[in-house]
Amino acid sequence: MKKIFALLLAVLMVVSLAACGADVPADNDAANGELIMGTNAAFPPYEYYDEDGETIIGIDAEIAKAVADKLGMSLTIKDMEFDSLLTAVQSGAVDIVFAGLTVTDERKESVDFSITYATGIQVIIVKDGSEIASVDDLAGKTIGVQAGTTGDIYCTDEFGQENVKQYTNGALAVAALENDQVDCVVIDNEPAKAFVAANEGLKILETEYAVEDYAAAISKDNAELTEKVNAAMEELKADGTIDDILAKYIKAE
Ligand code: ARG
Repeated sequence: MKKIFALLLAVLMVVSLAACGADVPADNDAANGELIMGTNAAFPPYEYYDEDGETIIGIDAEIAKAVADKLGMSLTIKDMEFDSLLTAVQSGAVDIVFAGLTVTDERKESVDFSITYATGIQVIIVKDGSEIASVDDLAGKTIGVQAGTTGDIYCTDEFGQENVKQYTNGALAVAALENDQVDCVVIDNEPAKAFVAANEGLKILETEYAVEDYAAAISKDNAELTEKVNAAMEELKADGTIDDILAKYIKAE
């Protein structure tokens, strides 16, 4: 009986200790708080799910983690639709967007951008044997895009809404190409390479549709964070960390 009581007491103590522990702020890396990053994790190699189907990995996830580490913050990544990312950062639902996000003048009206960390190129994916050979052949064709991306914006402007089909992510646009629901897909070059590698019978045209800069987006109300993030990113550029992360995911041809 005594033994059982002692055991019970021990269990109780452990449980109450654990409960106390939960109230104590994490000492180490989260000392300056949590950095909440918004992204759309269907964009390899910038952001995508690891084989476990739970962890978001990729260039942006690693750069964001390195930035958070420098600022003594913990990183939390939220996966959402691409076209709700800027609203999310404006409303404060997330602190920062890392999403292979292209800097554009129009977006600059609603958010602030960090310094740039990579170059993106809008390319055209077609089926082998397609009659589309360059940008000039796109007129009158049905173009698949990821909704809200620069590929979507440029194609809609240039070829008209009626010729552009929007999908929630690049993989769905590519699936539509395979099923002949669209004639081509306009998307950033690195995800394009990943999608073409994963699907037979597709190719990327040599012709480049647009060359762009990627940067993180932060709310205009959070100039302090933009300044801190830029300082961290400058250091990560200077010490080679960003180059290493890019090289890890993008193999030189
Ligand atoms: N660079 C393009 C843009 O900013 C596409 C980015 C898509 N990113 C993503 N994580 N799905 O519009």
